[in-house]
Amino acid sequence: MGPGGRDRSFYDAPHVAFFSLAATMGLVNAVDVGIFAQTVMLLMAERGVATCPQGSLAAYPDPVHRVASIPEGNAIVCGMSFGYENRDARINQLPRCESGLPIGA
Ligand SMILES: Cc1cc2nc3c(=O)[nH]c(=O)nc-3n(C[C@H](O)[C@H](O)[C@H](O)COP(=O)(O)O)c2cc1C
Repeated sequence: MGPGGRDRSFYDAPHVAFFSLAATMGLVNAVDVGIFAQTVMLLMAERGVATCPQGSLAAYPDPVHRVASIPEGNAIVCGMSFGYENRDARINQLPRCESGLPIGA
């Protein structure tokens, strides 16, 4: 698997959501999408569901449009992989600093 492969396979998460911007909206409305996405993340965290927002997934809109009912012309802003955390996965065993951010690979 090449660079970015894990990213493109959603880090093995069982689900992915995509956030799109209506064609009638301007670039400034991407901020609204970001705020909405963060709200989704907070709600999922409250319910014990882990999320991983991925801006890179916006680079592959064609397969998303093929499987999802996204209105024609809408731009895909980002994807968000999610699911219950697999604590056995190595990526979830990285040491973390107090902020919760990983401190080493
Ligand atoms: C808006 C946004 C876009 C991101 N895009 C990517 C991405 O394309 N690929 C990626 O691997 N991580 C991306 N990240 C970082 C991951 O989502 C990040 O590793 C994760 O949120 C941190 O989770 P952790 O605290 O459980 O390690 C992005 C984060 C944000 C907030």
